[in-house]
Amino acid sequence: MQKNNEHIFLIGMMGSGKTSVGKFLSKQLNIPIIDSDSYIIEKLKMTTEKIFKNYGEKKFRILEKECLEKNLNGKQCIFSMGGGSILNEKNRSIFKNSKNTFLFQCSALTSKSRIKNDDKSMRPLIEKNNLEQDLQTIWLKRKKMYKECATHTIITDNKTIENISMEILSILNES
Ligand code: S3P
Repeated sequence: MQKNNEHIFLIGMMGSGKTSVGKFLSKQLNIPIIDSDSYIIEKLKMTTEKIFKNYGEKKFRILEKECLEKNLNGKQCIFSMGGGSILNEKNRSIFKNSKNTFLFQCSALTSKSRIKNDDKSMRPLIEKNNLEQDLQTIWLKRKKMYKECATHTIITDNKTIENISMEILSILNES
């Protein structure tokens, strides 16, 4: 039985494994998962690509922040956050102040292999034919912010969803 009952934040680049691991952890811990991308898509009833195109990235980021803030005061849950959520200063301060912020880190090649077959409309910031390079460029721009937010860094290359989840569960049990 887990004693640490604070929210769990999963942050990291696209394709680092946040959503898959978040869903698994949610079952293991029997607590809900809140996926910021799904929250936004359901709220506007539009794909991420369309939101970016019609309203701009800024609007998307506002909704990402809203998703976080709206659910912070509720019961313990797992927040699987879109890769760009760390771009917002208030979000960063929430992540930094939590003992349960897990940065999922992997190579651009690993991310690419995980997302290459996903629907293009999920990730308008990257080009299908230039995936690895785009991911690497974005990572380098954001690296410092990701690192400053993380209370724990989990390397997710060459690991299964179960392996990563077990790593997180053991950290949660110790804290
Ligand atoms: C983004 C990551 C995506 C999604 C949007 C923007 C980003 O989420 O929020 O396409 O800026 O890194 P995932 O990290 O779940 O792929």
